Amino acid sequence: MASELNIHICIDVLDSTNELTQQERDAMSLAQEAANDAYAPYSNFLVGAALVLEDGTLFKGSNQENAAYPSGMCAERTALFATSAHYPNKKIKLIAVTARRRSEQHFLPAMPCGACRQVMAEYEHKQGEAIPVLLQGPDGKFYRLRSVSDLLPFQFNKEHL
Ligand code: THU
Repeated sequence: MASELNIHICIDVLDSTNELTQQERDAMSLAQEAANDAYAPYSNFLVGAALVLEDGTLFKGSNQENAAYPSGMCAERTALFATSAHYPNKKIKLIAVTARRRSEQHFLPAMPCGACRQVMAEYEHKQGEAIPVLLQGPDGKFYRLRSVSDLLPFQFNKEHL
């Protein structure tokens, strides 16, 4: 008889900024600010990410595109790599991500790509502590995930090498 591996994923859906903690509000508004500064002349899809570190430091990143398309980088990885380079030993307490089209002011659901999920998972594994993720959702809502594992379950990490 085959057995099953059941993976439970829990995502809070928050209806507005009123339901966010102060830290989440600060991180999301920094992510929105970062999106406004994205270098995305090819897709015109502006993505912003913000990280909160253990000492309260906030760090932001935006997508950086390139005429040689694959040489560009997503907002989440821009923020994560820069944070790890600047603060290699500080734990990450929160990742917030948002996106919008250049032609529109409102923010859109921000779903991190697979590569960004893998990179988030690396840092979560490295610090040995869950990193909550706050994503812009539709219609001014937000999604709160308790851990990167909820974005990338059944993941590959250094224990599998
Ligand atoms: N993008 C991000 O910055 N993060 C993601 O997780 C998904 C995609 C960027 C890459 C590219 O600059 C633009 O969005 C369109 O794909």
